[in-house]
Amino acid sequence: MHEDVVAPAGLRVTILGANGPTGRLLTEQALAAKCDVVALTRRPKEFPIAHPNLVVAGGDVRDPTAVDTVVDGSDAVLSVLGTPFTKGKVEVYSEGGRNTLDAMKRFGTTRLVVVTSGAVTDRPEPTGGFLFNRVLQPYVTRVIGKTVYDDMRRLEDLVAASDVDWTVLRPSGLFELPRVTDYSLTEEHGPGRFTSRRDLAAAMLQQVSDDRFVRKVAHVITTADNPNMLSLIWREARKK
Ligand SMILES: NC(=O)c1ccc[n+]([C@@H]2O[C@H](COP(=O)([O-])OP(=O)(O)OC[C@H]3O[C@@H](n4cnc5c(N)ncnc54)[C@H](OP(=O)(O)O)[C@@H]3O)[C@@H](O)[C@H]2O)c1
Repeated sequence: MHEDVVAPAGLRVTILGANGPTGRLLTEQALAAKCDVVALTRRPKEFPIAHPNLVVAGGDVRDPTAVDTVVDGSDAVLSVLGTPFTKGKVEVYSEGGRNTLDAMKRFGTTRLVVVTSGAVTDRPEPTGGFLFNRVLQPYVTRVIGKTVYDDMRRLEDLVAASDVDWTVLRPSGLFELPRVTDYSLTEEHGPGRFTSRRDLAAAMLQQVSDDRFVRKVAHVITTADNPNMLSLIWREARKK
């Protein structure tokens, strides 16, 4: 079981996208693991966590100065930035990634963990079946979410071309569970269409003290207590 999320105490981690649903869980887990945490959000007044080892910084990841400020002095950057589906161009993943890599180079930070999605490839999901692989997934990735997935791929390319110790984590459909489970973390997409946000956060934090996936892409899958696919897609697609 992955119940106890492990990270070296005293490590300073910067969390980008800290105010999103996964980012908040990651912030809590990192603080529980006794890390010093710097959380970046555009809405610092709405950030719900306060802790002596937490600095909440207001700023936009597209602003290089804001990114410099939160990366300076950190041992690792954990990025769980995200944006809702839109027909417009999406650049937050790649622009945020570029600013992060520049800042890491400037300040000598070497460890980077970023989140994209298992759906960035067109590979059919092993247990998906016809409806999921031929209808739902293509509709999400090539129609309503196309600009988001395009920018996730740009981020993956940027990170892979960098000199830092990077790991790309690709979750599947995100959902909520009250505890960290015995999630699977593998280079090949394992069977399963869902990832709990708590497991994703735990997998991100685990990378800080684990070099098995350095310079690799890994898939995070939760097999316990999975939700209903249609209700999940509907809920996530309507998120603002
Ligand atoms: N939903 C799914 O089923 C699914 C599946 C696979 C992968 N993913 C990916 O998993 C990740 C986590 O998803 P999530 O649902 O937990 O989070 P999310 O709702 O996508 O939010 C992430 C946070 O990023 C921050 N952000 C966005 N633009 C920013 C900017 N320009 N500067 C600074 N911060 C910015 C926002 O916080 P502020 O507004 O406070 O700044 C937001 O709360 C995302 O990358 C998502 O695309 C999701």
